[in-house]
Amino acid sequence: MDSSSIGQGLAAPLADRFGRTIRYLRLSVTDRCDMKCGYCMPEEGGPHAEKSEVCTLEELARVVAVFRTLGIATVRVTGGEPLLRRGVIDLITAIRRDVGIDDIALTTNATLLAENARALKAAGVRRVTVSLDSLDRERFRAVTRGGDLNRVLRGIEAALAAGFDEVKTNTVCIRGINDGEFGAICDYAWAHAITPRFIELMPIGAGAALYATSFLSATEAIRRLGGRLVREEGQRARGRGPAWYVAAADGTARKAGFISATSHNFCEDCNRVRVNAMGELRPCLASPNGISIRDLMRAGRSDVEIADALRGALLMKDVGHHFNDGAPDLTHLRVAMSGVGG
Ligand code: 5AD
Ligand code: SF4
Repeated sequence: MDSSSIGQGLAAPLADRFGRTIRYLRLSVTDRCDMKCGYCMPEEGGPHAEKSEVCTLEELARVVAVFRTLGIATVRVTGGEPLLRRGVIDLITAIRRDVGIDDIALTTNATLLAENARALKAAGVRRVTVSLDSLDRERFRAVTRGGDLNRVLRGIEAALAAGFDEVKTNTVCIRGINDGEFGAICDYAWAHAITPRFIELMPIGAGAALYATSFLSATEAIRRLGGRLVREEGQRARGRGPAWYVAAADGTARKAGFISATSHNFCEDCNRVRVNAMGELRPCLASPNGISIRDLMRAGRSDVEIADALRGALLMKDVGHHFNDGAPDLTHLRVAMSGVGG
């Protein structure tokens, strides 16, 4: 897209310099979390945005409404831990009903999922992804620095009972920590009609310090899943996002997903943008570039003006994440996963 598309306001779909059409918005509703996973948060937690810096629920709904006019069809609500944000169910209801987004997903650590699952379903959430790095209570507590596995498992059960279209788990692969458990996690997931996903550690936020010693590739994760998955490359399929899926060897519809930012670069067909709880547009997870949609809203800009600014900002979306170039320093907190929601 060239600069002539600026000024089109509500017309053309959102696209970047590389012809990628953006259909998927990840919206972080809070930078707070009640866990402190070692690859995400520093031990001391935070630092968190001031309340006045964080977008109100109305502002967040307006952000989504503007993106909707630009062709965004899927919104994934993330955090920090999104269920810690007061009013998040009302926000989701507004995104579904007032903004008219049909495909709403949620990524959560599930500590508050048991009590919220039914209301989330009623509000319009279709798909839920739960972070699950271990099925061992002590190891789970250690990885999440205090998380309660039983609560998480109860949350997953409540999600299954609530009848979402899809429940998935995310397991970050950490060498020497949870790499003996991938098979057990896969078996647990499949026994509950859940699709497990295994995520390569990314050198972002607190993950940067762990990366050198603890990275484990998706290829190795597949090996550790033993005979559960088919071996043929042709049996791999892409999902809506960056994950690729491998079918179960037993011929059932079961599958396991892999997100491999470093070993299999998925940037060329990236279809997503991120907005954090402060209303900063982050064109790429690994990019410190962004614009403050919040400031535009608070300066009284119209939806059309904001839409034009978003188009312009998308032109900054880089061709890839450069994790492998050793280029940018991604340890600084503005790009921490806890702020942008993975
Ligand atoms: N590397 C890989 N995955 C990460 N997540 C958070 N930080 C990292 C990292 N450094 C994952 C969480 C969660 C998702 C939102 O992002 O496990 O499932
Ligand atoms: Fe919280 Fe998720 Fe980060 Fe863990 S990975 S500290 S659950 S935001």
